[in-house]
Amino acid sequence: MNENIIYSINGPVVTVRDTNAFSMMEMVYVGHKRLIGEVISIHKEATTIQVYETTTGLKPGEPVQPTGGPLCALLGPGILSNIFDGIERPLLDIEKASGAFIGEGLNIPMLDEQKLWDVTVTAQVGQTLSGGEIYATCPETALIEHRAMVPPDLTGEVIYAAENGQYNLNGVLVKLRDANGQVHNLTLCQKWPIRIPRPVKQRLPITKPLITGQRVIDALFPIAKGGTAAIPGGFGTGKTMTQHQLAKWCDADIIVYVGCGERGNEMTQVLEEFSELIDPKSGKPLTARTVLIANTSNMPVAAREASIYTGITLAEYYRDMGYHVAIMADSTSRWAEALREISGRLEEMPAEEGFPAYLPSRISQFYERAGDMVTNCGKEGSVSIIGAVSPQGADFSEPVTQNTKRFVRCFWALDKSLAYARHYPAINWNTSYSEYLDDLEKWYSKNVDRNFFKRRQEIAALLLEENKLMEIVKLIGSDVLPDDQKLIIEIARVIRVGFLQQNAYHKDDTYVPLLKQLKMMEVILYLYFQARSLVIKGIPVSSITETGLFDSVVKMKYDIPNDQLERFNEYYKEIDQKLGALK
Ligand SMILES: Nc1ncnc2c1ncn2[C@@H]1O[C@H](COP(=O)(O)OP(=O)(O)OP(=O)(O)O)[C@@H](O)[C@H]1O
Ligand SMILES: [Mg+2]
Repeated sequence: MNENIIYSINGPVVTVRDTNAFSMMEMVYVGHKRLIGEVISIHKEATTIQVYETTTGLKPGEPVQPTGGPLCALLGPGILSNIFDGIERPLLDIEKASGAFIGEGLNIPMLDEQKLWDVTVTAQVGQTLSGGEIYATCPETALIEHRAMVPPDLTGEVIYAAENGQYNLNGVLVKLRDANGQVHNLTLCQKWPIRIPRPVKQRLPITKPLITGQRVIDALFPIAKGGTAAIPGGFGTGKTMTQHQLAKWCDADIIVYVGCGERGNEMTQVLEEFSELIDPKSGKPLTARTVLIANTSNMPVAAREASIYTGITLAEYYRDMGYHVAIMADSTSRWAEALREISGRLEEMPAEEGFPAYLPSRISQFYERAGDMVTNCGKEGSVSIIGAVSPQGADFSEPVTQNTKRFVRCFWALDKSLAYARHYPAINWNTSYSEYLDDLEKWYSKNVDRNFFKRRQEIAALLLEENKLMEIVKLIGSDVLPDDQKLIIEIARVIRVGFLQQNAYHKDDTYVPLLKQLKMMEVILYLYFQARSLVIKGIPVSSITETGLFDSVVKMKYDIPNDQLERFNEYYKEIDQKLGALK
């Protein structure tokens, strides 16, 4: 009797009695509709499968067919500018084929197989090529050259190299004969199991920032290329907005944006906004360097679990070509909830708040795939990971936030009261941190200014000082403070409102180059030190504030366009003149 048939169905989880036909993590086809599934456990009595498509209508007795391999991503040109679901099915093509809802088991290729690419074959007959080495290139978008690489586990001699010309995804470009004499046809695409990190030659020490143009990040809590960051925040505090800002403006070559369990309209918005937005460096649309993975709240939960791995696999693939890639996941909490739901259906022993005991290891495995690397083709490439976390009730002590905190090195804590006061980005400067400061100091010093870090430290110290003073002010009010402390409170306000607050909707303020960030800090600090020398001489803070200097400095972010930095000199003149009059 054929036992390869469905025995039970529980939401996205299906069991089969047969335990010999399948192997762990194998991809399978479930039911007559051939829904895509993955083997997640094999016990004495049954094999358990999670199904990535909706199981509505599926019946016991329907067949389950093994495929012999794990769940893979298809890697090749056509990924960029595209939008996929959690298992890399192209959503726009599916929509065309089946209407607005994803038809189950629709056999639509992950990447366009018809499209012709302008291929330059770089490999030569007689050459030995090994895993990761590049044998052909083609322009994938206006911004990105696609580089076809030998699959990681293969080495051999080139016995055939095609002419340059137009090829589709499956056209044979190179034939490689391995040590056993077996010949492998190399095309523009390859497969890779999404749960296994792609190999690299070497991990490099962290030395370069991922520049975001967001002042509170670049100046106070910078993230590195190849680094990791979490954006925890309660409902509506600006997680998605921050992720969007980074996706638009950060200086990665490629953006992988994973919308994980969030609202569907947010993904449409990303698509629309990005196709209108122009990359400041190249003048081309931002979609030319972006791939979206959307597993929104109305899509099957198991595919949400997979979407994170699909995303990071695509990111690693472009890293291997020698690109700097940034991946944003919004929100990893919804991903963790998918883990919890599946774990619950498997009747696993729950740990904290019902999450499975392997939650920490899954989170760490994800963030470990970040890094600045020497790839197998000898180039440098990096993957930076930025994950949003949405703890219920903004309670940062819950397991997803806490475990994420263990494995990331930047923590940009969004604060409800800041968001409520419309202080955006609502990144709380007292509870956020970056552990990359020591790694990045040299880069800022060499590439921006010798004093950048000194200035940032002075700014951070003033904010810290204000925080301490506010404890006193809360108790007894600010009137009793001596004038030098009142001045700190005044200047800290300038830092908060004039520097940390940044308006994502303002044409100049939405992205601010590092040099402008430095010049803003310098003006603020100049005002502070000049004012302090007056206070020391006994001039009251009130007469300093009456000059209007503080308010004028607060507005410099809007008053000085990003390409007219010489105008900062006007502020020094104004400060000297107005404070000089008080002496
Ligand atoms: N940097 C910013 N500049 C201007 N407005 C902002 C900024 N960040 C957030 N906002 C405002 O806050 C609103 C909510 O932000 P967002 O949708 O990003 O929050 P969220 O944390 O993702 O919420 P949810 O918990 O619902 O996912 C935005 O619609 C926007 O009006
Ligand atoms: Mg959101």
